[in-house]
Amino acid sequence: MTEARDATFRIWRGDHATGAFRDYRTRVTHGMVVLDAVHQVQSESAPDLACRWNCKAGKCGSCSAEINGRPRLMCMTRLETLDLDQPVTVEPLRAFPSIRDLVTDVSWNFRVKAKIPPFRPRTPDAPDGTWRIDQADVERVQEFRKCIECFLCQDVCHVLRDHHKHDEFAGPRHFVYQAALDMHPLDVEERLRQVKDENGIGYCNITRCCTKVCPEHIAITDNAIIPLKERVVDEFYDPLTRLFRIFRAKRKSDRMDGRPEPDASALPPKGAP
Ligand code: SF4
Ligand code: SF4
Ligand code: FES
Repeated sequence: MTEARDATFRIWRGDHATGAFRDYRTRVTHGMVVLDAVHQVQSESAPDLACRWNCKAGKCGSCSAEINGRPRLMCMTRLETLDLDQPVTVEPLRAFPSIRDLVTDVSWNFRVKAKIPPFRPRTPDAPDGTWRIDQADVERVQEFRKCIECFLCQDVCHVLRDHHKHDEFAGPRHFVYQAALDMHPLDVEERLRQVKDENGIGYCNITRCCTKVCPEHIAITDNAIIPLKERVVDEFYDPLTRLFRIFRAKRKSDRMDGRPEPDASALPPKGAP
């Protein structure tokens, strides 16, 4: 698109039960994103249109919506990537309850997150209160920290969206969070039972839809979910690994009884068999 032109935006109005799409025609120019068009519609013809946004830079995760049926950030979806000869549909995330128009109630995600035990570091490796950790272990969890909590991955996941397993399944965003904690080289908290039981990782059948929609390009399935599944298998279904862990935990408690700590950089990463 090089010149200004008119385009139609088919925007959801109302809530899930009684709402409907309504068409708005507005003039668009090169460089605009869907959020610009929605703001223009608000100012020209629908001042009561509800939409959530904050940064307009792809960093706050507030402007999540379904654009032409695909979960995306409105502020990062350029109009030139869409077919403007057809109406552009803009609707709220469908995996969560509607509040009004494009705004959904995503508070369930925060309640799930609050139940996950926080970071708990092991005792320092040196008398001055510092730790020794491998740079590779540090870098491994950096990817997960890019999450902006847009919940697009939650929206696309069929376990939540189609099967409504919100009581039994935490969803990909929370597996990313649990992976960030569980793979942290200093963390010693136990979360795998929660991953298996309460957060239902077994429901994930590795469709990779979550990975495809993540605006931060986090390899959710390959780098977070699959390693967590492997740890669950090791912990709960592999008798040899369980025996080894019991033995290792006993050695650790012996050390805490007075024996010197080994060089931390030589320790295997948490969860290693
Ligand atoms: S890979 Fe798993 S978590 Fe991701 S969308 Fe598919 S079922 Fe859901
Ligand atoms: S993992 Fe990606 S898609 Fe999911 S909430 Fe975080 S940034 Fe959004
Ligand atoms: S407005 Fe912040 S991510 Fe779109």
